[in-house]
Amino acid sequence: MTAPRTYHITTFGCQMNKADSERMAGILDALGLEACEDANQADVVLYNTCTIRDNAEQKVYSYLGRQAKRKHQQPDLTLIVAGCVAQQEGEQLLRRVPELDLVMGPQHANRLGDLLEQVLDGNQVVATEPIHIVEDITKPRRDSAVCAWVNVIYGCNERCTYCVVPGVRGQEQSRPPDAIRAELVELGRQGYREVTLLGQNIDAYGRDLPGSRSDGRHSHTFTDLLYAVHDVPGIERLRFATSHPRYFTERLIRACAELPKVCEHFHIPFQSGDNAILKAMARGYTHEKYRRIIAKIRELMPQAAISADAIVGFPGETEAQFENTLRLVEDIGFDQLNTAAYSPRPGTPAARWENQVSEDVKRDRLQRLNRLVEVKAAERSQRYLGNIEEILVEGENPKNPAQVMGRTRGNRLTFFDGDCARLRGQVVPVKITQVRAFSLTGEGVTGAIAQPPLQPIASP
Ligand code: SAH
Ligand code: SF4
Ligand code: F3S
Repeated sequence: MTAPRTYHITTFGCQMNKADSERMAGILDALGLEACEDANQADVVLYNTCTIRDNAEQKVYSYLGRQAKRKHQQPDLTLIVAGCVAQQEGEQLLRRVPELDLVMGPQHANRLGDLLEQVLDGNQVVATEPIHIVEDITKPRRDSAVCAWVNVIYGCNERCTYCVVPGVRGQEQSRPPDAIRAELVELGRQGYREVTLLGQNIDAYGRDLPGSRSDGRHSHTFTDLLYAVHDVPGIERLRFATSHPRYFTERLIRACAELPKVCEHFHIPFQSGDNAILKAMARGYTHEKYRRIIAKIRELMPQAAISADAIVGFPGETEAQFENTLRLVEDIGFDQLNTAAYSPRPGTPAARWENQVSEDVKRDRLQRLNRLVEVKAAERSQRYLGNIEEILVEGENPKNPAQVMGRTRGNRLTFFDGDCARLRGQVVPVKITQVRAFSLTGEGVTGAIAQPPLQPIASP
């Protein structure tokens, strides 16, 4: 076998997968391989896969089919499936696609170098056993030079009855606070300006870490972590996702209000606005509790943007129960909502229930919900009109090279005229002149707002 020279990665699914792909790309770079845009030209093709819904999984098979065919002409092609489909299917994937060289679950992402070596030795390899995730020592190849993702907790200990994630991502594993801080310090040094801390349930961070404080209080909560990383030089903005309502404490809300770098944007999925459905989903909270969290956030941060995920057509969901979801969306007015029709997933309890909702009803509910979401998002955008917002410039507007794009602290995508080479990575005050449901347009203003002084803040 000749040594591979180029690699291609396609990533499906959530930010966790995107962060894993950046680390895997970093490992391949360190091995001397070169990144290649076109999957059909690359010597190593890696699909980092998602199985959250059936359509996500099917997409992977259609991509894989094409590469499997190519391998018949090009036996030296190395074909890798990583991520959540790999974990879910394991050995079975080799039976379905015998052309595969490597099947690796998400917990093995940092081991790609070793695994690839075994493949180049002539082995077909499956790495899906649960392991303690090894700290990453290679440098990720990050897509952006301005905004970076940093994993803080892997896995999920919840058991929502519809969800494959606990099965494919394994038990919660929190990274030590020192390792997280060190990664941020390095990012700040390299010129990154914004960090999004990542976890399936980020507010559950730290429960598995050893050690407690002398006063008996657990000192490794997510709130403590925010205080511990807040003063990292160079990093001007901190975001985090995803939050679970069960762990979203008032102390966390207060910390976000107090810490100037933490952006006023919260992604807190509610899934359903109906208590009986929430119970059947095993979510562990009521819609009243959810509403209290949002009220507290808005009391302390009136400008805060709220986004969430919701599912329609969960087994047994009646029209009246679906309307409770509409009501919640109407009442809260989300800035953004990721919606999905319930998809029965292998190995999850709800998939076996007999009270499944028909595809027609699911489609109808999804459309009705999406219409409402757009109306509410457009209403929420109105509050920006005429405001001066701080925009962190990320890059050029792909549709108009005379404009740059970036985000408000509340995470609204914003475009304005400007020179990308000069502005990238800068926080620019922008007067908002046009608003759409999910994006804004404005004009840069100079000297309009002074940057708030960023000072280290001690943990209370
Ligand atoms: N840990 C996060 C979400 C992770 S999965 C949380 O608990 O909120 C991302 C989203 O996919 C979920 O919020 C949910 O809305 C959606 N999802 C998960 N399983 C699904 C399924 N079987 N069918 C449809 N949507 C699903
Ligand atoms: Fe899935 Fe629930 Fe875990 Fe979120 S909390 S990843 S929805 S099991
Ligand atoms: Fe998909 Fe796995 Fe994320 S199933 S949503 S890529 S955790």
